[in-house]
Amino acid sequence: MKLDDARQEVERLRREIRRHDIRYYIEAQPEISDREYDMLYKALQDLEAQFPQLITADSPTRRVAGEPLKTFPVVPHRVPMLSLDNTYSHEELEEFDARVRRLLPGEKIAYVVELKFDGVSVSLDYEKGKFIRGATRGDGTQGDDISGNLKTIRSIPMILERQGSATRMPALMEVRGEIYMSRRAFELLNKQKEKAGEPLFANPRNAAAGSLKLLDPKLVAGRHLDAFFYGAGAVEGHAFETHHELLAFLKDACFPVNPHWKLCSSMEEVLKRCDGWEKRRHDLPYETDGMVVKVDRADQQRRLGFTSKSPRFMIAYKFPAERVTTRLEEIEIQVGRTGTLTPVAHLTPVFVAGTTVSRANLHNEDDIARKDVRIGDWVMVEKAGEIIPQVVEAIASRRTGHEKKFRMPAKCPACGSGVVHDPEEVAIRCPNVACPAQMKERIIHFAARKAMDIEGMGDVMAGQLVDAGLVRDYGDLYRLRKEALLKLERMGELSVHHLLKGIEDSKTRPLGRLIFALGIRHVGSTAADILSRRFGSLEKLRRAALEELTTIDQIGPVVAQSIVDYFGSAGNQKVLDKLKGGGVVFGETATARVSDTLEGLTVVITGSLEKYSRLEAEEAVRAHGGAAGSTVSKKTDYVVVGIDPGSKYQKALALGVPVLDEAGFERLLKRAALKNLPKNSGKGA
Ligand code: IVH
Repeated sequence: MKLDDARQEVERLRREIRRHDIRYYIEAQPEISDREYDMLYKALQDLEAQFPQLITADSPTRRVAGEPLKTFPVVPHRVPMLSLDNTYSHEELEEFDARVRRLLPGEKIAYVVELKFDGVSVSLDYEKGKFIRGATRGDGTQGDDISGNLKTIRSIPMILERQGSATRMPALMEVRGEIYMSRRAFELLNKQKEKAGEPLFANPRNAAAGSLKLLDPKLVAGRHLDAFFYGAGAVEGHAFETHHELLAFLKDACFPVNPHWKLCSSMEEVLKRCDGWEKRRHDLPYETDGMVVKVDRADQQRRLGFTSKSPRFMIAYKFPAERVTTRLEEIEIQVGRTGTLTPVAHLTPVFVAGTTVSRANLHNEDDIARKDVRIGDWVMVEKAGEIIPQVVEAIASRRTGHEKKFRMPAKCPACGSGVVHDPEEVAIRCPNVACPAQMKERIIHFAARKAMDIEGMGDVMAGQLVDAGLVRDYGDLYRLRKEALLKLERMGELSVHHLLKGIEDSKTRPLGRLIFALGIRHVGSTAADILSRRFGSLEKLRRAALEELTTIDQIGPVVAQSIVDYFGSAGNQKVLDKLKGGGVVFGETATARVSDTLEGLTVVITGSLEKYSRLEAEEAVRAHGGAAGSTVSKKTDYVVVGIDPGSKYQKALALGVPVLDEAGFERLLKRAALKNLPKNSGKGA
């Protein structure tokens, strides 16, 4: 065959194969038998082998191609991939509708209601109708380039050919959707894994995510992943006027679009739709965790805009908690960082609301007695979305008489100390501050993401350090040496380096996080932030008297006493000295003064701002010499109001305190046009 003839034949075969792919993978209506399809495929393979110069990256034979990667390159998203706000009830959905209508007064609103697929979100780039690359969501602004893996998914088109209309393809289009694994494919995969003696995936979503992380496309091809597309990021050379038009376009361009979307003209209709799918969702061959409600018109979407995290024109409606029954096999006692003993149920593993549950918190003895839960009982377990599973009740009718009542132990299971009853609470505590279980938990808390955020320092590491006697308190973390760490089990050069770097990086965390990390009883992250604002350094907080603490708004007498107790302990003072000696910044250097323009003024921030996080805005106030308040009173000079402001906004209006929007806040910081700003006299309105 001549090259020109071969080229024509190759193109014809590719067109045929693409057409049959769509019939098979998108429309589920094959026109030819598998054998006939295989023959077309083989013919193309043979020709490409004979004329390698005709091979193109988007040829159907190239879907599974390329060598395994070492890592995925990182690619930016042109338009960020945001997340969705969640709602859990009809009321919350109605509030969403009310908010939309408030922002678009008098306008007709139509919503598209879609299923919410429980998979992995991806963004695919098409240039002039050709697949260029595809990436995971990553941190929203950039993700992993998983093109090779995505290409193995046969329902994802490599070339866009519109069926219905003659309109040209957009010059560039980011197409957004969800990669998922059907229940069937999931079961198949786990069966294979079981046979091979490999660990199983807990649910289809984890299986899809795990498969997309594989570095070898050949392995991914065997995972039977699939996709639904429901959105677009950047689009050049085309504008969609409505969301339903976008869905129709995607379908016409042969993307897999889920057929169960509906255009609704009222919230009543939306709610009905959500309720309907809540009942029927288990009939679907794939998993859903809720519905997504989207304002249809693009101009209205634009005017509604975005908060810092999510669009204001769509919202997720999560299906309510699922309940299942399982056996309670054993009750184990956990010792917390303050010594509290907590009973934890060991359950026969059961799949509920997307994950396999094998443990649940039983809180305390009173709670167990109230629910009359016994060891060996069949129990009802509930799990709602991201919330931790709970044992709701025992199923008394299924008792055999062999169930055992549970009593809290008289001794700490970790150190053997006699337990004490906390008079203020129902809790039972281990009074031994040197109890290794408590030490571990204190270290875990200190290093946690919301606290000092020490990378490489998880539960296992903390346990190892305490057990090896290297760490007795969190002050010791800053004295760890490489040589000692290298002697620990499973610790090589690389992991030691990683851990020490994590510890080093944590030295400059903001003061609020440091205070939270100390684990002072009753001081959560909110109270820690309030204290950090008020005192500006740990040294000052360390010396604060009870009287001073109790004058702070939102710090009650119990919290104040707990703070004084913490700093009153000689042991804790030693630990603090270790932190300081180890180089942990106590906050004195936190905010560098930029100007004195806000000297003597108190500014309160409420709601979320577009350009600043709450903490950043408050830092900015302090940097200009002002005080950042946490509550609005007559003494407040300005209240800065962002999106979704809380009651502080109402209070500002009631008290006549001047209110600024974000632009006004920036002017205030710059002192530009400040003459136009009214200043509160401090006497109130
Ligand atoms: S629209 C701002 N539509 O749910 C992002 N998302 O919880 C909005 N998801 O990251 C995307 N089904 O991965 C949209 N029909 C659907 C969806 C859907 C599932 C995922 C998506 C998103 C996550 C947010």
